[in-house]
Amino acid sequence: MERFHILVGDITHSDAEAVVNAANTSLLGGSGVDGAIHRAAGPQLLEACRRLNGCETGQAKITPGFRLKARYVIHTPGPIWQGGGLGEPALLASCYRSCLELAAAYGIQSVDFPSISTGIYAYPLPQAATVALRAIMSFLAQHDLPRRVGMVCHTEAAAAIYRQTFNLWYAEEKSDRL
Ligand code: APR
Repeated sequence: MERFHILVGDITHSDAEAVVNAANTSLLGGSGVDGAIHRAAGPQLLEACRRLNGCETGQAKITPGFRLKARYVIHTPGPIWQGGGLGEPALLASCYRSCLELAAAYGIQSVDFPSISTGIYAYPLPQAATVALRAIMSFLAQHDLPRRVGMVCHTEAAAAIYRQTFNLWYAEEKSDRL
């Protein structure tokens, strides 16, 4: 599906209309993607986030992108991995869906995601990639916006896992159609 692509890079350099921030529930910044996006967007992002009064895991809230190329930042706190038996997959899927619903509601044409929860929150990458791709592809199958979604992986190794997972999903999708 040409509406979705996987790339390697730094999400703060994204030219998508919106970038997703792998935040925490306080929305007051952190390290990883959160730290990089706040550093690149500048101090106004934190001021805007303070006015949002936090965000629940699996939900999403939107701010301007300020000094980022991206016009918007969509903040979503992912689940912390605790073994997979405490609702982590459903919460992670909800992160992707909530961000896409918000993007569609704002008429946003393109959204770039980082690999939510797979850093400090320790969600194993293969499991996270399966959840992420299923959530993104099912949303895109039912909505016209956003027109383009990217998964921005910080390393080639992470991108390889997303590509393998995508090919598996695509093969299943095609066999379901036969
Ligand atoms: N661009 C793209 N991807 C990045 C970047 C970047 N600049 N920096 C890190 N990543 C990747 C990591 O390699 C990981 O695969 O983003 C993924 C998510 O990692 P984290 O940023 O650690 O996010 P997460 O695992 O969701 O943990 C969230 O970390 O920074 C804090 O405040 C944040 O408490 C929250 C927690």
